Amino acid sequence: MSTFDLTRLLPADHFSHALRHDVQRGLTASPKWLPPKWFYDARGSELFEEITRLPEYYPTRAEREILTDRAGEIAALTRARTLVELGSGSSEKTRLLLDALNGIGSLRGYVPVDVSESALEAAGKALIADYPGTDVHAVLSDFTQGLGLPPGGGPRLVAFLGGTLGNFVPAERAGFLRTLRAAMEPGDALLLGTDLVKDPAVLVAAYDDAAGVTAEFNKNVLNVLDRELDADFDPDAFEHVAFWDTEQEWIEMRLRSVRDQTVKIPALDLPVHFDEGEELRTEVSAKFRRERVARELAAAGLRLTHWWTDAEGRFGLSLSEP
Ligand code: AVJ
Repeated sequence: MSTFDLTRLLPADHFSHALRHDVQRGLTASPKWLPPKWFYDARGSELFEEITRLPEYYPTRAEREILTDRAGEIAALTRARTLVELGSGSSEKTRLLLDALNGIGSLRGYVPVDVSESALEAAGKALIADYPGTDVHAVLSDFTQGLGLPPGGGPRLVAFLGGTLGNFVPAERAGFLRTLRAAMEPGDALLLGTDLVKDPAVLVAAYDDAAGVTAEFNKNVLNVLDRELDADFDPDAFEHVAFWDTEQEWIEMRLRSVRDQTVKIPALDLPVHFDEGEELRTEVSAKFRRERVARELAAAGLRLTHWWTDAEGRFGLSLSEP
């Protein structure tokens, strides 16, 4: 029989404080911006799941293709006893890794780390039913604020999939990778998914789909602010924008104000003015090349040992070690 437990590394009011802090900071900056983590309330998580099934949004399918082909090899290389997954969400692709590690008999524990308690509960409980020999130690944590990985249980395979590393700007990324490296021990390995630089038309379409699901996902952050901070954003007064920044090699999602307007955020006592056409940046999604991944890992003290892509070369999965 396996067990499920959940550790809350954050005080109960962490998210309400962090949201207030981020909104105050981002909406008084010029240009205005918000961190992407606030997309993911229950509705936002549902919309993201829908995005992963869109014809234009290839990263999920491309990464799943690599994991399907390589999970056995990854298991054989790492012989991990514990699988740690950062930003586990629905834990869907995780099963490919759990099956492979189970197949070689090394797996004892699974540690999903996520900001969503509901996602951790649902995924954790489903997994203990399906993997009777594997204990699930869920960790509710905001890994943009440090890691809080429980030590021990090695060798551990730390998986950070989906291309979420791309949500950090370069300086944050460097800090995050160093924190991650510091939490790792000899024998541990990092499995990192990174979306790759490609034809800008393909990239822009992936973030501006014909059905408008990504537009709804983007605007959902305004609903979060309306609900949590009693703000009066009208999502229809903003337009979804997906912009490819050639210099930085990242996609930016933005919300463009369709008119001159002032939004009230009573919880912060903050009126926020938008000029007509003014844009609010809601997400950066960086795209990588292999050399850059290797270089950034090396700068954090991690050595890239394996690199795999899908057949079309759209997405990269790397394995690295301290
Ligand atoms: C979950 C961060 C990997 O950047 O592609 C999808 C989020 N944003 N469509 C990404 C997202 C718009 C996604 N990540």
